[in-house]
Amino acid sequence: MRSKFVAGNWKMNGSLAANAALLEALVSGSHGLPAGAMAVLAPFPYLAQCEARLSGSGIRWGAQDLSEHASGAFTGEVAGSMLREFGCSFVLVGHSERRAMHGESSELVGRKAVAAHAVGLTPVVCVGESLAEREAGLTESVVSSQIQVFLDVAGPAVLAAAVIAYEPVWAIGTGKTASPEQAQEVHALVRRVVAAVDAGRASTIQILYGGSVKGSNAASLFAMPDVDGGLVGGASLNGSEFLDICRAAVACGPT
Ligand code: 13P
Repeated sequence: MRSKFVAGNWKMNGSLAANAALLEALVSGSHGLPAGAMAVLAPFPYLAQCEARLSGSGIRWGAQDLSEHASGAFTGEVAGSMLREFGCSFVLVGHSERRAMHGESSELVGRKAVAAHAVGLTPVVCVGESLAEREAGLTESVVSSQIQVFLDVAGPAVLAAAVIAYEPVWAIGTGKTASPEQAQEVHALVRRVVAAVDAGRASTIQILYGGSVKGSNAASLFAMPDVDGGLVGGASLNGSEFLDICRAAVACGPT
């Protein structure tokens, strides 16, 4: 059985003051939601603030990236063990903005997931096609290959601990959401690719949808049988809208 889960990716947004107000709104609005149904993924400098405010609240937190290395001369990088010291449960790997702007390959994404898993973090592995790839009919091959390379590098033990997020690049920050049917089609494909490696895990792995999820479209997306929740960008910066999205996920019940 899979329970629904929503994570808010703050991206490079926030300030101590704005986060304090947002976290306050989330904690006070989350009463009645099951513990573990929501998480926020904050910029590194704000993880201590998340830990201070969210500890004991039932809301979990995490980071948006990590180094593939455990420690050493890697200026500017942040190790998974450091994220654990600030109470992180999750870390994004392979977000499309990192793939596009920092040249991250699926191999590197796999190695980052291994590094996350080694210290007990749950890697949230992001995959998704560009608009050009969708228009060229390449969605299935692009997404399957991203997952397959990740699996080849990271292996079944890391897969067993991972969450996958399908984020069509053309839907991120554009206001153009995938239709529930488009999301379902790719989520079912992701589950089939996972099933080929680990049939048991395919029925339990959480596959989140990301790309212009809002309060107004969350319920119809989360109603799809293979959509296990959301990875929310812009709308996660607004406490009441993010809570609406989380409530929509919980209202769908487990699949
Ligand atoms: P938006 O919800 O702003 O489209 O961003 C999606 C995303 O990239 C979450 O990781």
